[in-house]
Amino acid sequence: MSVGLERQNVIYRDGVHGRAPRVPTDFPSLERAARKVMSRKAWAYVHGGAGIGRTMDANRAAFDRWHIVPRVLRDVSQRDISIDLFGRTLPAPVLLAPVGASELAGPGADVDIASAAAELGVPYIFSNQGCTPMEDSAAAMGSAPRWFQLYWSKDDDLVDSLLARAEAISADAVVVTLDTTMLGWRPEDLNLGSLPFARGQGIAQYTSDPVFRRIVRERVAAAGEKARDEVSVAAVKALVSMTRRFPGRFLDNIRSPEPRAAVETFLDIYSRPSLAWSDIASLRERTSLPVLLKGVLHPDDAVRALDAGVDGLIVSNHGGRQVDGAVSSLDALTDIAPVVGGRMPLILDSGIRTGADVFKALALGASAVTLGRPHLYGLALAGRDGVRDVTANLIAEFDLTLGLSGFTSVAEIDRTALRS
Ligand SMILES: Cc1cc2nc3c(=O)[nH]c(=O)nc-3n(C[C@H](O)[C@H](O)[C@H](O)COP(=O)(O)O)c2cc1C
Repeated sequence: MSVGLERQNVIYRDGVHGRAPRVPTDFPSLERAARKVMSRKAWAYVHGGAGIGRTMDANRAAFDRWHIVPRVLRDVSQRDISIDLFGRTLPAPVLLAPVGASELAGPGADVDIASAAAELGVPYIFSNQGCTPMEDSAAAMGSAPRWFQLYWSKDDDLVDSLLARAEAISADAVVVTLDTTMLGWRPEDLNLGSLPFARGQGIAQYTSDPVFRRIVRERVAAAGEKARDEVSVAAVKALVSMTRRFPGRFLDNIRSPEPRAAVETFLDIYSRPSLAWSDIASLRERTSLPVLLKGVLHPDDAVRALDAGVDGLIVSNHGGRQVDGAVSSLDALTDIAPVVGGRMPLILDSGIRTGADVFKALALGASAVTLGRPHLYGLALAGRDGVRDVTANLIAEFDLTLGLSGFTSVAEIDRTALRS
């Protein structure tokens, strides 16, 4: 039986026993339900976008401008939605997008997401801003596929250390995110004065890194006796939060300047606004893993990426979190796909909410898509099972959309399946 029908059967069978799905099966209900269980700061960080949210709106509007034109009488009883990507056969053209500070949506978040992804065989792209060291998330996945997402730090030794760790955890690929060399203007967070990293949330890849820890110790030694900051309840809470998240015993850490210095060091060096194409060229010597660039939106940049020898692109505007009024990722894909002409895989990110969205992205030239906020909403509602169910629902809906549109495999989908 197909994955779509199987998933429907599970849900309807549970219904006979009076059990409703733990996570709603449509995005608007999922989002509403997640909002109810999330704190204000968590909601602001996860839901919020840059400026007045125009890029987020554009991401959705772009999908709505395309319509599927189903074909009939083509025997769609046997369907195969698997794809081959970087030497692996994946069960569906879906990956889980990297999400930093994910513990805002549930404790133990990265491990829960990793383990849910592993159960489905869907790759999880570990964020550089993870709340759990990548080694721990990988340990929860067995041999299931995982990738690593890198923010290129100001410190090249740290970059090399992170890349070496990604190789050591058998990541299938490295994704370098290029659109966040600075944090975008995000009013939902700004209006609460809330930045998770300043509380020590989302810096576990750093505090677990030997190079980063050395940098912190050097900075502590160089700073010597520092002037005392203003003491307030909020500042003490933030210090406790940083200390709790720092490796080692809380009681030892609370007397040490390192947890706070780690946050300050992170804020100082986590990204490099001066990043340029020459840095990308040096990646080939830095890692043997396939390299993808995330955040590419202009066809000329796609061509430069090809020239630089990268292995794939994630066409993305970071879920509208960076530049307000930016091009939608789907429109960018329609510009980029023709110039790339199949010479490297394109993964569409930003705005994927339904199985039909996956279908449209593939029809417009994507090899696969990444699922972002929806999996975090599943996490907020039902932990690991929530991530699994949201992802399985999307894949099921894609499988049914594929068949009901008259197709039996991912390779068959092309632009003729759509009209605008
Ligand atoms: C809470 C949150 C944290 C994120 N953290 C990262 C990150 O650490 N690295 C990264 O490359 N992208 C990050 N992203 C962007 C996602 O990888 C993805 O591009 C985005 O969620 C896609 O948009 P969508 O969720 O609206 O579909 C984050 C997104 C969210 C919602």
